[in-house]
Amino acid sequence: MSKFITFEGCEGAGKSAQIRYLAEYLDQKGIKYITTREPGGTPEAEKIRSLILDPHAEMSGECEVMLYAAARADHLKNKIIPALESGINVICDRYIDSSYAYQAYARGLGFETVQKANFLAEARMPDVTVFLDLPPEQAFVRKGGADKDDRMEMEGLAFHRRVYEGYLALCDRFPQRIVRIECSGEREKTRSLVLAALTDRGII
Ligand code: TYD
Repeated sequence: MSKFITFEGCEGAGKSAQIRYLAEYLDQKGIKYITTREPGGTPEAEKIRSLILDPHAEMSGECEVMLYAAARADHLKNKIIPALESGINVICDRYIDSSYAYQAYARGLGFETVQKANFLAEARMPDVTVFLDLPPEQAFVRKGGADKDDRMEMEGLAFHRRVYEGYLALCDRFPQRIVRIECSGEREKTRSLVLAALTDRGII
């Protein structure tokens, strides 16, 4: 059975590197997969992505949550579900937990509102979610500061602290699905922890 694996964490936690490592591991094993990302992953969802991340946009939190959900709906229907149904594993950089951490917790829209907007994604939750645990204070140092072309990254440290606390709350709420990986050490060490966690759970 193909698996749906998502990666979550604060900006700069090292998701891209860990996704690359996992992809290399699956290549060696000859296991089929695709990698994809949110917001985005399909041509239409990528257009919505530019709208959401535009640093000049001044949108309400409600509009923001609906746009992320709209992009997700397209991504799910046109890319994630077709891959899973044809026996291909899906590795996704961010998914619904980003909406919970950023919109529900950090923006303060609340869990219920975000859940309602994401009813389609709620029907296809990941088999496992890897949360790369690195507090924003350390993550921004690792990243070398915020990206000025990205509206979400331009939010201050207090916002990203709330995102991080949101993720910790999600780990408590979904202990079966979310694996928390402490990743302040070397990338190679995190790589071993991620692969071990996925192997232990029978995911890969
Ligand atoms: P991106 O450049 O992909 O960030 P990163 O490289 O850190 O993954 O930008 C996506 C931004 O959108 C990021 O700040 C997280 C935010 N986001 C939400 O606020 N809600 C969501 O549902 C998703 C998927 C992302």
